[in-house]
Amino acid sequence: MDFKVLDHPLVAHKLTCLRDINTKSPTFRDLVDELVTLLAYEATRNVRVRPIAIQTPVAEAAGVALLDPKPLVVPILRAGLGMLSGMTRLMPTAEVGFVGMVRDEETLEPFTYAERLPHDLSGRQCFVLDPMLATGGSLSGCVEFLAERGANDVTCICLLAAPEGVENFRALVDDLNITTTLVVAAVDERLNEHGYIVPGLGDAGDRLYGIV
Ligand code: URA
Repeated sequence: MDFKVLDHPLVAHKLTCLRDINTKSPTFRDLVDELVTLLAYEATRNVRVRPIAIQTPVAEAAGVALLDPKPLVVPILRAGLGMLSGMTRLMPTAEVGFVGMVRDEETLEPFTYAERLPHDLSGRQCFVLDPMLATGGSLSGCVEFLAERGANDVTCICLLAAPEGVENFRALVDDLNITTTLVVAAVDERLNEHGYIVPGLGDAGDRLYGIV
């Protein structure tokens, strides 16, 4: 797995505002949007392109266009939805699929409760959005699901990660034998006994959308 932590003063500044308990939902949503666009710049570094020829007002020029099939962006519901517009702003022609995952409170295993994805993902670059990499269960479950559909190149974008989550995720994806990249804005200290990232930012879904 290729693992990148974005070391940039603007990212650190926006993350600081995001963590602040006094930041209300409308500002929180805007900050997530801006942060994801910054992360997406790094996460799309290896997006596949093909050469094309164009005409400028002055001369012929060589350029590139995104390769077909177009990349697929997959927000994990619910909190991943808050990251979608920041990603599609940078890649407006990408297609968007949805995966809803929840943890079974008895087995602690993630299961998929909703899914809207192309049936065959072979040859598709996939970009999974999930703000908090805590235990790694949902993100690993989602990547496993995409790999079962034939995806062999998956990049995951998270705002915050716990060290435990990164290691669990790494162990799973290394077994899958597909190209995997993880891009995060920061790795925090640890998980607490309730599964929250410390110091973290609290429940990302609640802070984005209110407690529903
Ligand atoms: N999910 C969240 O929203 N926050 C955490 O700290 C951990 C998981």
